[in-house]
Amino acid sequence: MAAIEIKKNIVWVGALDWDRRLFDELIPLPDGTSYNAYLVRGAEKTALIDTVDPSKTGDLLENLQEAGVTRIDYIVSQHAEQDHSGSIGAILEIFPQAVVVTNEKCKAMLMDLLQIPENKFQTVGDGQTLDLGGKTLEFIFAPWVHWPETMLTYLREDKILFSCDFLGSHLAQSRPLLTDENRTYQAAKRYFAEIMMPFRLQIRKHLERLNTFALDLIAPSHGVVYPRPAFIIDAYRDWVSDKTENLVLIPFVSMHGSTREMVEHLSGALIRRNITVIPCNMIHTDIGELAKELVDASTVVMASPTVLGGVHPAIAHTAFLANALRPKLKFASIIGSYGWGGRLVENLLASLGNLKVELLDPVLAKGCPNEKDYQALDNLAAAIAAKHREIGVLT
Ligand code: FEO
Repeated sequence: MAAIEIKKNIVWVGALDWDRRLFDELIPLPDGTSYNAYLVRGAEKTALIDTVDPSKTGDLLENLQEAGVTRIDYIVSQHAEQDHSGSIGAILEIFPQAVVVTNEKCKAMLMDLLQIPENKFQTVGDGQTLDLGGKTLEFIFAPWVHWPETMLTYLREDKILFSCDFLGSHLAQSRPLLTDENRTYQAAKRYFAEIMMPFRLQIRKHLERLNTFALDLIAPSHGVVYPRPAFIIDAYRDWVSDKTENLVLIPFVSMHGSTREMVEHLSGALIRRNITVIPCNMIHTDIGELAKELVDASTVVMASPTVLGGVHPAIAHTAFLANALRPKLKFASIIGSYGWGGRLVENLLASLGNLKVELLDPVLAKGCPNEKDYQALDNLAAAIAAKHREIGVLT
């Protein structure tokens, strides 16, 4: 790894995790990730903003050595999750005079999670500042991006927002500054969908507050640093709005082809009505891709055969995730094939309680779909088109 100065006296000293492929044993990482830690050198004091995942402590220590660091006065801990806090203990061992600067909630979590002794902390309040000598850190409490204790840090003189998990992306690239807006947009949208989407309403408030800060750089704790802050702020404004697109997402599983046949018929009927359709075979689809499409979809149609009288486990898992992510979907329906009965619709409805959607009539076929079932699927497509017209996404 390498220590890289992103602005005078501000050095990226984090770690790249090129080949990590799963986060929280749940979220696929097709582009790896990074744990960004930043050194801020004032005329009198030096602060380290966040650390790195414990598996990468060696990289952080090497980077600090390469940056010629002989003293750290403050370790600013913006968030207690271990991918940012996990190396605090190692830093305290090497720089025993350092103090962990954080808020009361984060302090309690760090004491629980990492056993850091209480006398190592200096707590700060929302809006409070810390003077490093010509560099002033201002702390901005931002609960729920990602945990309730999360805070951001604004470096006044340089107009840099250290945004922790907020506004980040799971993306490993060799230089910290953004180089490809298209690639970054896709990675940041996926990250938003997987991690931030459940907190859409809180994020709106945080974005309002950030309007009051002049920003030259946004430096998150994952992914790339944004030299054009409007790029990511505008993207977030769009993602957290209530606006959806003329898009139907169809997560499906088919065991013997009948449910697939229904998905294909419905997809064709929707396409003929000028509606964009994304069918996702949930045996192969990575859940990050599914989450990304949920950001804009107006409608979801869950498609499953029955297994032991209930929903297929892969679609049950999909419904559980969609429910937890709380996308801004407006409409939902259920289609599928059954053998001799079952509780497909009841199972799925019980899992989707968080979604504020209008349910459109489900279509269930006994075995292979017949003409009556195809007609019902055409009716469902017509109902979806009417609803999309009603909300103004289909003209
Ligand atoms: Fe990147 Fe919530 O930790």
